[in-house]
Amino acid sequence: MVHIQSSIFSGLLLATVASTSLIPSFPTRLIKRADTWGGSVSLGPTKSTIINAVTTIIPGPAPPTQNGELFLWPGMSNGTGDLVQTTLESWPSNSWCGAAAGQWCVRASVFGSFGQLDGSPGIVSGGDQVRIEYNLQSDQNTWLQTVTNAITGQQLSTYSHASGPYMRGYGTGTECDDSCTGTIAAQSYLNTVITLASADTTFGNTIASAGGATYSGLTSSQGGKVWSIASINIPAMIKTSTTTTKTTTKTTTTSTKTTTTASVKTTTTSAKTTATTTKSGNGCTASQYAQCGGIGYTGCTSCASPYTCKYSNDYYSQCL
Ligand SMILES: *[C@@H]1O[C@H](CO)[C@@H](O)[C@H](O)[C@H]1NC(C)=O
Repeated sequence: MVHIQSSIFSGLLLATVASTSLIPSFPTRLIKRADTWGGSVSLGPTKSTIINAVTTIIPGPAPPTQNGELFLWPGMSNGTGDLVQTTLESWPSNSWCGAAAGQWCVRASVFGSFGQLDGSPGIVSGGDQVRIEYNLQSDQNTWLQTVTNAITGQQLSTYSHASGPYMRGYGTGTECDDSCTGTIAAQSYLNTVITLASADTTFGNTIASAGGATYSGLTSSQGGKVWSIASINIPAMIKTSTTTTKTTTKTTTTSTKTTTTASVKTTTTSAKTTATTTKSGNGCTASQYAQCGGIGYTGCTSCASPYTCKYSNDYYSQCL
């Protein structure tokens, strides 16, 4: 199972490819013209090196049926060496990891000159929060990938590989191979934190987004050694009609979306009703950047002043 690394062009280091000598051309054998890409957000290259990177992805449901292969991953590379890429995968059947239709398989994974190396897989549902950490071990050479359910702490996959100390770029990839069925839901990456070996005050200037992806809350601390992105939102590749109905106790917001499905080139109109439930009387408020809504979410639905609860996707609303 080889996923193709051409993603580094369209995802990781996207905007910096043209302007840096760090990123050489990839061998053309690695690039499949049929592959397409969803939106992406990336950072890099840094003048320092990355020593730790952590994010939490909420993938939304996988397409119930899949043509080709669909991969979602946060990736880290220096452009010539290995691509460290824990990958959420949707195949024509995901039974190989035990997943049902609409669920993902997830594997800690490394792509390099050797091909693809994978840890054993776990199962991910659309509303799950999947925490993915890449950590440079004390030998300054081995990268440990640890994939856990952020809510339950259950380990989903892990993998260790000696990919070297020179990781300079980090970014999201939504990779659609062999005419895949594209993503049908937006993906959120929460609280992405990249720690560098030493301060790089200009790392934040390298942030780039493509394909309609957005981000919010880019901040740094420790003089530019630690960089955080509170929220990244990657839009669905295929808009489907979904109707979400929830019990409303206080406020209801109704919006209508008109979307075109790319795959079949027809226009479909979907009326989407999103109901916001405001808990009465518990006085519970979520802080800036915290989650405040979404399918399966049971926490505070009000935001601390002056922030308001903004819809990101069906699985995630955030105080901004
Ligand atoms: C990328 O990392 C590999 C492995 O450590 C190293 O051999 C290579 O020189 C690095 N390339 C760049 C451009 O830093």
